[in-house]
Amino acid sequence: MSTERDKCLQKVGFAHHLQCLSLSQSINISTQLVESFFQDISEHSDKMNEQLRHHTANVLSQCIYLPEPTLKEETIPSQIGKVHIITGGDTGYGFELVKMLYNKGATVYLLGRDEDHFEDTRETVYADCPDLRGNIEFIQCDLANLRTVKSAATEFLRREERLDVLVNNAPVMRPPAGIESVQGYDLQMAHTLGQFILTKLLLPLIQKTATISNPGSVRVIWASSIAVDLESPKGGIEWDPETDAPKKMGRDYNYVQAKVGNVFLGMELARRFRDHGIVSRTFNPGNIQSELYNMTVMEDALTRNLLLYSTINGAYTALYAGWEDIEGDSYAAYVIPWGREGRCRPDLVDAVKMKEDGGTGGAVAFWDWCHNTTL
Ligand SMILES: NC(=O)c1ccc[n+]([C@@H]2O[C@H](COP(=O)([O-])OP(=O)(O)OC[C@H]3O[C@@H](n4cnc5c(N)ncnc54)[C@H](OP(=O)(O)O)[C@@H]3O)[C@@H](O)[C@H]2O)c1
Repeated sequence: MSTERDKCLQKVGFAHHLQCLSLSQSINISTQLVESFFQDISEHSDKMNEQLRHHTANVLSQCIYLPEPTLKEETIPSQIGKVHIITGGDTGYGFELVKMLYNKGATVYLLGRDEDHFEDTRETVYADCPDLRGNIEFIQCDLANLRTVKSAATEFLRREERLDVLVNNAPVMRPPAGIESVQGYDLQMAHTLGQFILTKLLLPLIQKTATISNPGSVRVIWASSIAVDLESPKGGIEWDPETDAPKKMGRDYNYVQAKVGNVFLGMELARRFRDHGIVSRTFNPGNIQSELYNMTVMEDALTRNLLLYSTINGAYTALYAGWEDIEGDSYAAYVIPWGREGRCRPDLVDAVKMKEDGGTGGAVAFWDWCHNTTL
């Protein structure tokens, strides 16, 4: 009889297998092949069947059958007078997003670790967009060091009088085992904590901006991943009874839990602050080429080119989360590639709901943990 741990490991291994399959845009795997694969596996149990159906739907809708982006660089409304922050905009889709917003006249702040890297980035953007449009600024911020996050927030508040969209983007994925942040947290979870404290310190300004802006335009968006759906434990986060903190379970699981954390914080922020006019959305940017894969099996460029979509697509997903006009009641949303609303796994949807509303209260518990941890 298999233990809970065996089941978890089986699920993780299986999810990785799925991800490899899902990434096979250029290998042209047919739907029949994917379906027969699921049929074979589904013989294991009914419970597994249900999970597989959900995984299949997610893989197909978030990785393989991807519609055209909804919002693109040509269709972004003017950003003149708007001020945005992107954590980690030096590379990846964050960089593409910086270019697009700059081109539309925005002031974009990059919060990052390395000012020299930032200067290169700024030069590249200016060279790519020769007609000076917006403004690109830098503030030193290492998300893995809460002290620098606090001073970055203070510096931003000193320099600006509005904040329209905060993009909580910068990650680290699967670093060598055991690496911790300056304050001693698992490095991947530390990035989520850093984003929490950054958001919290900037909230008064975000709220103020919402009072003088078009309804639904002032937002915080949180990068997540399809790994949340495919690989997280039931309820999203497993708590360590000894430490009352998310359990440290190895670098793959820690990455996934950090990304679940972003979903929970995004949804919880929306619940707490929608009456203040703040939209908070999480998004899976999609499987895209970036330096994120430097410490994974997709280290080499050839594999990445073969298996991943072009980086700019991730920026389109983020654009939808942060800049697409809101229709109806979508102050909280889970956005999927390349810009449309998706739905998380049912147990994660339950976790986002408060206990008094019939949920499990997982998101509130995580928010409270972040709050108490960063006091
Ligand atoms: N790429 C994908 O396929 C994929 C799939 C699902 C989800 N995502 C999510 O999408 C987001 C962006 O991914 P990406 O692929 O664009 O990543 P990326 O290319 O690796 O970019 C990461 C950015 O974060 C910055 N950064 C890293 N650690 C930092 C720290 N401690 N403090 C401040 N900045 C830091 C890096 O800047 P420096 O290194 O220059 O300091 C870099 O600018 C992440 O949240 C990721 O989890 C990506």
